[in-house]
Amino acid sequence: MVGRKVGIVGAGFVGATAAYSLTMTGRCHEVVLYDINSDLAIGKAMDIGQSTSYSPRGTIVNAALDASDLKDCDIVVITAGVPRKGDMTRADLLMINAKIMKDVVNNVMKYSPNAIILCVSNPLDIMTYVAHKMTGWDRRRIIGMAGALDGARMAYQIHKKVGYGSGQTRAMLIGDHGQNMIPLPEISAIGGVPLDQIVTKRDMEDIIARTKDGGAEIVKHLGTSAYYAPGRAIAVMVEAMMDDSQIVMPSSVMLDGEYGYKDVCVGVPVVLGSNGVEKIIELDLDEQTKAKFKISVDSIKEGIDILKEKDFFV
Ligand code: 2OP
Repeated sequence: MVGRKVGIVGAGFVGATAAYSLTMTGRCHEVVLYDINSDLAIGKAMDIGQSTSYSPRGTIVNAALDASDLKDCDIVVITAGVPRKGDMTRADLLMINAKIMKDVVNNVMKYSPNAIILCVSNPLDIMTYVAHKMTGWDRRRIIGMAGALDGARMAYQIHKKVGYGSGQTRAMLIGDHGQNMIPLPEISAIGGVPLDQIVTKRDMEDIIARTKDGGAEIVKHLGTSAYYAPGRAIAVMVEAMMDDSQIVMPSSVMLDGEYGYKDVCVGVPVVLGSNGVEKIIELDLDEQTKAKFKISVDSIKEGIDILKEKDFFV
């Protein structure tokens, strides 16, 4: 059962925006920001804490100066990790971020042994897998945030195309948080009206392409990754678990036979509640979507295999 203290590891743009979003709705009692750069955590905690003066409900915002200050969190959001730079290969990046994840997860196990972990670090599905392997916890307690963001991006693209239904659009996707993600327009809708009855096939292809490219398109303009939509998507998931609201949200979770796969983390619709993943919903996929899902799962497994080859899990 989750309570109301949320730890956020990584006080960069994504972590801080998630903290800010959580304090604006006032749903948690305390947010603790931790970063290897303590000044960053202290400064952002002060700034966000001061903003709560005008929130509907007060939230305490603290900086953790040491990992031990992350004690007794009910939910820990992990945003720590480095982006790919210069001549780094994908394998190099994977190894660097997996090591960061391992350190963070060890601290979570030590200081917040009953927490639910929400992974945000990239490559998302592989980092979620790392958190599973490192903790050995019940799979309900380790969740990757991706579909909440990608779904919001798809809803945005749908609104851009049709010009109505803002806030009423529900978009569903499955698969990895990357180029092989699988938007599912056939089960997406505006105000309950199925999308394929509103949007032409050609417009739909455009929506799908821009959704897949959603993160990269923002990087092109900003020179850095997105953070408002990721921050809000994190907060929505945290709030759903704190409120035990049992909402359906595509999220990266460990499969154990569902969809025909085991021992891999990938995005599928799940029910979120006070225990974390309350239920994995198995969609009845057609053959074409099954084939796309396989490509997506295989791409995640390739990353996991790189870590295995480097003896990361030994
Ligand atoms: C995004 O999709 C980088 O995962 C981040 O914006």
